Amino acid sequence: MEWTREQRYMKLEEASKEMKENLKHQVDSCPWRQKNHIQPPTGLLNDPNGFAYYQGEYHLFYQWFPLGPVHGLKYWYHVKSKDLVNWVNNGIGITPEKYYESHGAYSGSAIEKDGDLYLLYTGNHRDENWVRHPMQAIAIMKPDGRIEKMPEPVITNVPEGYTDHFRDPKVWRQGETYYAIIGAQRQNQTGAVVLYSSSNLMDWNFMGEVKTNLKDFGYMWECPDYFELEQKGVLVWSPQGLEPTGIKYRNIYQSGYAIGDPLNLQTFEFSHGEFQELDRGFDFYAPQSMEDEQGRRILVGWMGLPEIEYPTDKNGWAHCLTLPRELKIIAGQLYQVPVVELEKLRKDEQLLSTIIDSLVEFGTGVHYELECEFTDIQANEVGLNLRMGNVEKTVIKYDRVNKMIVLDRSEAGEDVAVEYGTIREIPYERETLKLRIFMDTSSLEIFINDGESVMTSRIFPTNNENKIQVFTTDGKVKANLKKWNY
Ligand code: FRU
Repeated sequence: MEWTREQRYMKLEEASKEMKENLKHQVDSCPWRQKNHIQPPTGLLNDPNGFAYYQGEYHLFYQWFPLGPVHGLKYWYHVKSKDLVNWVNNGIGITPEKYYESHGAYSGSAIEKDGDLYLLYTGNHRDENWVRHPMQAIAIMKPDGRIEKMPEPVITNVPEGYTDHFRDPKVWRQGETYYAIIGAQRQNQTGAVVLYSSSNLMDWNFMGEVKTNLKDFGYMWECPDYFELEQKGVLVWSPQGLEPTGIKYRNIYQSGYAIGDPLNLQTFEFSHGEFQELDRGFDFYAPQSMEDEQGRRILVGWMGLPEIEYPTDKNGWAHCLTLPRELKIIAGQLYQVPVVELEKLRKDEQLLSTIIDSLVEFGTGVHYELECEFTDIQANEVGLNLRMGNVEKTVIKYDRVNKMIVLDRSEAGEDVAVEYGTIREIPYERETLKLRIFMDTSSLEIFINDGESVMTSRIFPTNNENKIQVFTTDGKVKANLKKWNY
């Protein structure tokens, strides 16, 4: 279905009861609804927003267009959790109702101040000539959960030198000062992030551009995030416009990070290492992190990409968020480890320690966590067939001849974004390999070697085929397998 501009910018209250009921019915009858991931009740979910620990609970919002699987008038939908595992839908967080957000309450972040949770986000306003006027706005969540908006935005202009692609403020506090970085596009059509400061979250000063060594790296940087971890500065962002190079940058847009010295807040210099992709799977974008009360840095991403059609579109909804991952820096690299709380979901433990020299069946399943430790790898290939049957399978394997870890979804089920390829690869050359996989109805997240790399992907099986097989070709491997349903 083609969506007209009127339909995309229809407010929830303008939709008829019948339209909403039909949509809900369509969504509820979809075979690909997830079990353990945050997904929209109807319509489209994109970026995680406003991720925070506040008043004893984790709060998370997401970009939401309620009325269908398209990018239209964005709301913030609110979910919360006591343990990062069981999430409760809490209804709409921010409704786009003011002039400055007439075309959407776009992405932003959260910070606690004086017992309230401040949400700093981009109001997306377009004028009668469809020219975009991004403004940065504040909404305040009170301890009782009410969210109140400021009557006027707190940053009303785009600084000199940048285009109207200017959005997604991420706020943090250092000492007595609040800082925010905002994703921007320079007048010369290259991406950047800029820095603001404030003493009270209401009055903001433009400080300047964050000086990185990536002067010409894509045409827009969306959803920047900055934090310090183990005395290092980490900048995370989603650059648009990188060309694929070899096995890198295979998705329509990327998201990654650079680690460096802490950002110099006087000179705005960020001296850093190489840009590295956060995730090497098919579906990952616009992540956001927060620090919780235990001092953990936790990241959640959007398990989807802009401008790509997904099989669930025909069921009236699209996308979900990733599982929360704790970040660590090990040997100059960001590791992502599923938060330990997820172990609470484990039931029906199944164990197998064996030598595999061709194929072993290891049960079946749709909703499970699977851990495979391979040691003494002497085969040409060692891998797993998942959601496997006569017709479909999703394959993750270590191809020792080509020195690659390969995720292959070419036969996983219904096609998605095949023009961007059906495999994803990571260079690899070792005698051991550990895979930890979280499988849900229509997704898998593969954590390699305790979070050293991750491959996050949607899959859309159509045949209800659920076998789990562990295989080798031309040789053997020691395998230690564990599986839990969830
Ligand atoms: C990233 C993004 C953000 C924007 C939001 C709108 O996916 O384009 O830059 O704020 O989505 O939903």
